Amino acid sequence: MTKVYAAISNKGGAGKTTLVTLLAGEYALRGERVLLIDADGRLNLSGWWRLCHSKANVPENIDVTIAASRRALEMEIARLQKNSFDLVIIDAPGVDSTIQEAIIGSSQLVISPVQPGIKEIEAAGQAAASVAEINDRYGSQILHLNVRTRITVPGRNLEAYRYVRPFVVGLQQAGYQTALLSTELFERNIYRAIQNGLGTLQMQELSDPVRRARREVLTLVEEIEATRRAKITGDAA
Ligand SMILES: Nc1ncnc2c1ncn2[C@@H]1O[C@H](COP(=O)(O)OP(=O)(O)O)[C@@H](O)[C@H]1O
Ligand SMILES: [Mg+2]
Repeated sequence: MTKVYAAISNKGGAGKTTLVTLLAGEYALRGERVLLIDADGRLNLSGWWRLCHSKANVPENIDVTIAASRRALEMEIARLQKNSFDLVIIDAPGVDSTIQEAIIGSSQLVISPVQPGIKEIEAAGQAAASVAEINDRYGSQILHLNVRTRITVPGRNLEAYRYVRPFVVGLQQAGYQTALLSTELFERNIYRAIQNGLGTLQMQELSDPVRRARREVLTLVEEIEATRRAKITGDAA
């Protein structure tokens, strides 16, 4: 069955589109056939895709499509079984909307990027709550994970940074099924640069900064998959 993941945060600029392209590159490198769905009217993801084409940096094993409405999204999802993708990643809009509910409902895993800022942290909490509401309503078991992004070494001293963990613990204590990944995405120029049509991170020449970034994203994917497996085995037990 095709896996469906989504990046959700009602905060614009939280790091959703960046996260989606980084994950897509890593899964594609593993040989998975990845479909990215741009469900954000700002069309940043499909803009990146268009630039990749015009600069002849089209990644292998990745395709990108746009779903501008709830109905378009549901049609894309319905078509999936026929199209033999291994993984779909949906890039959500940065506002609460009816399409967001459809995105969450279509997913097995929702990931919220969290920058060390109070608005970003609150938006991740809101995403956890939206996932919980949909799980309650439909008896589903959609997993919600938070990943810290745009982290810097001095930034780790910020109050907002130190607030992320207790905030997620607070959500868990309140009964939300959510978790904080230990892998963090650092603030990296290469993450910004690839948005300019350079293809995926994994296509870049292996300079030291690219190597460090690749290691980080690989660790993130391994942690996501380990968390999913633990969840699935836990459910079966
Ligand atoms: N880890 C990161 N390092 C450096 N820049 C980042 C990182 N994550 C996001 N950005 C930059 O922050 C801005 C907003 O990120 P984006 O992924 O577009 O957020 P969203 O899709 O949630 O609106 C973009 O300019 C992007 O390049
Ligand atoms: Mg975006």
